[in-house]
Amino acid sequence: MGKIIIANWKMNPQNEKNAVKLACQSDFLNVVIAPPFPFFGAVKKVLKKAKLGAQDMFWEEQGAYTGEISPRMLKKLGAHYVIIGHSERRALGETDTIVNKKVVAALKTGLKVILCIGEPRQVRNKGLTAVKNFISKQFKADLKGLNLKSYNSKLTIAYEPVWAVSLGRYDKHGKSDTPENAGYMIQWIKKFLNSRFLIRNSMVLYGGSVNLKNAKSFLGLEGIDGALVGGASLRINEFKKIIRISQSN
Ligand code: PGA
Repeated sequence: MGKIIIANWKMNPQNEKNAVKLACQSDFLNVVIAPPFPFFGAVKKVLKKAKLGAQDMFWEEQGAYTGEISPRMLKKLGAHYVIIGHSERRALGETDTIVNKKVVAALKTGLKVILCIGEPRQVRNKGLTAVKNFISKQFKADLKGLNLKSYNSKLTIAYEPVWAVSLGRYDKHGKSDTPENAGYMIQWIKKFLNSRFLIRNSMVLYGGSVNLKNAKSFLGLEGIDGALVGGASLRINEFKKIIRISQSN
């Protein structure tokens, strides 16, 4: 499999017509499109090469859970992937315990998980040892109780330093990570997953303000398996060029 690009549309675009148009233009192999739930059906219908992903889900299968969507519902709607633990959800109160329940439920249902992990700015400011400690704790909590050997190829990690996501939105000093840092962390995460969880072939992506200007330097990194793209996935000409870069790196 080549490098994978996840298009996380977040709460965009504003209507189904624009969602379908964007989906048609983003329909390439090794691309995952994660639209808002109301556009799921319409987007699924037009995808021929790209896979459908969800931006979140609940961990129970059914019951009195107002507003929630189950893993099986997602599967039936044609989702292959689900993003879990995105920093924007964690910022709204999603804990590692919740993330863990979601990861377990998604994998059991047969969905592929894109687990987002990454450190906040205060941790990064303390240096690399603090970052590694933070991320290893996140992994241990988020992957607790899973027999990962059997789910090896179903788990994709998106390393997203929180301060680099949606530039400047949560942090007025926000700036993208450097490719050197991201590359170092991706290699470290692979080694960590291998030694701690015996995971050998999970993909590790980078996310956080990937755009046309920096795509080549991120996607050219040794060991990187792709990117999770938010804002730039809505700018179709830019997004198509990012896909092309991912295919040639
Ligand atoms: P961004 O979003 O590319 O707009 O920073 C990345 C993400 O969704 O995590």
